[in-house]
Amino acid sequence: MEFDVFTLLPEVFLPYLNSSILHRARQRGLIDVRIHNIRDWAADKHHVTDDEPYGGGGGMVMKVEPVFAAVESVLGPFPCGDDIDRLTLSRCPTGRATPEACCPVILLTPQGRVFSQKIAMELVQHPRLALICGRYEGVDERIREHLVTDEISIGDYVLTGGELPALILIDAISRLIPGVLGDPDGAMDDSHAAGLLEYPHYTRPPEYRGWGVPEILLSGDHAKIEKWRREQSLRRTLKRRLDLLESAPLSETDRKVLKKIQEEGENS
Ligand code: ADE
Repeated sequence: MEFDVFTLLPEVFLPYLNSSILHRARQRGLIDVRIHNIRDWAADKHHVTDDEPYGGGGGMVMKVEPVFAAVESVLGPFPCGDDIDRLTLSRCPTGRATPEACCPVILLTPQGRVFSQKIAMELVQHPRLALICGRYEGVDERIREHLVTDEISIGDYVLTGGELPALILIDAISRLIPGVLGDPDGAMDDSHAAGLLEYPHYTRPPEYRGWGVPEILLSGDHAKIEKWRREQSLRRTLKRRLDLLESAPLSETDRKVLKKIQEEGENS
């Protein structure tokens, strides 16, 4: 999978991308992350990428020309053919007029739809993503209107720019690509993957400062361990994230277990 990242702070990406799992994924060719410095496309001699807002007010606004120039020079001019689906694809900047080849152009902004495991699963279906990191008070609205096909926020708080959010997207999406995690089922067990929070984990030693490990995990009985883990996931989600439980795919057995847990709570 390919990522093209457009940023004014290219230097923040490499330390993370050169570490651990993402580093290995890049070395093995499972992901290719290309970082583009928007400043390189600022036409004036001082490479200015921001300006004062029309209408006054505080803060600076990211200029439209360098962002368009950067994205178009990397992805190709747009719009591409009119024959593709309107929402994401009608603004396809790649010039490759097929839905599969079209590359979403995502602006990281607190105004976007809130990122989730579901959105990561949706985005990993694309062979290529372009990520634009906003800075300053915001971006010229024409970038939103005519270049960007999607806007994503990583949560309801405001950061100084879209660089950390872009890394978060790259991380969450990459670990869904087969082969990126050592364990082929790794991403399946994650919190959120099945709509529930994950069960608790333990590793050696079996006792630390008098705190033990649940006996069942040492029993070697895999069927019982699976059952225990599912119950723990349900307990945790019930206690911490009722909102997730309401939309999680639950079996009849899950529902019985939940009922038992709730009755325990009522009787204690
Ligand atoms: N840029 C600044 N804050 C952000 C957020 N919460 N999500 C995505 N991009 C941002």
